[in-house]
Amino acid sequence: MPELLLEDPDATSRLARRIAPHLRAGDVLELHGGLGAGKSHFARAVIAARLAPLGRHEDIPSPTYTLVQTYDLGGIELWHADLYRLGDPDEIAELGLSEAFETAIVLVEWASRLGPEAPSRALSLSLDFAPGDAEGRLLRIEPRGGGWDWLAGVLGGAKGAA
Ligand SMILES: Nc1ncnc2c1ncn2[C@@H]1O[C@H](COP(=O)(O)OP(=O)(O)O)[C@@H](O)[C@H]1O
Ligand SMILES: [Mg+2]
Repeated sequence: MPELLLEDPDATSRLARRIAPHLRAGDVLELHGGLGAGKSHFARAVIAARLAPLGRHEDIPSPTYTLVQTYDLGGIELWHADLYRLGDPDEIAELGLSEAFETAIVLVEWASRLGPEAPSRALSLSLDFAPGDAEGRLLRIEPRGGGWDWLAGVLGGAKGAA
């Protein structure tokens, strides 16, 4: 997959909003990238896009200390995880994440900390700072496993998305 330039925070939000409606139970989005790369920004935009149609416009707290934050979308759960402070890999199962990978929509910041617990099927999103551009981010998208057919349409329209 080619790299995509997200020229500012709004561009990142727009892409997140285009991806959000496609996500189903069992879909895992791995968010990779260093501190400040935009992982939380992207995750918050996905969560807000799924809450808004339910009439919910609430604060979306960071799971930095709790490691996971869950949202009931009515019949389906969305989990937002931030594994930066993960101590032991055993915590992944203890947190309920292994099960959530099968049953929920899961957004995982610092997903490399999953190690061997990473699900076989996931959409891997890697954010990097674009050289010489404070607001630019390069995004590399790598689908793993099947069921991501909608992605081509989302990316094809991403450029002109308002
Ligand atoms: N193109 C961009 N996409 C996402 N965030 C951006 C972009 N340009 C600047 N930013 C800013 O970078 C910061 C990213 O912070 P955050 O999402 O918390 O990063 P992370 O979770 O990866 O540590 C935010 O302050 C955001 O406004
Ligand atoms: Mg973050």
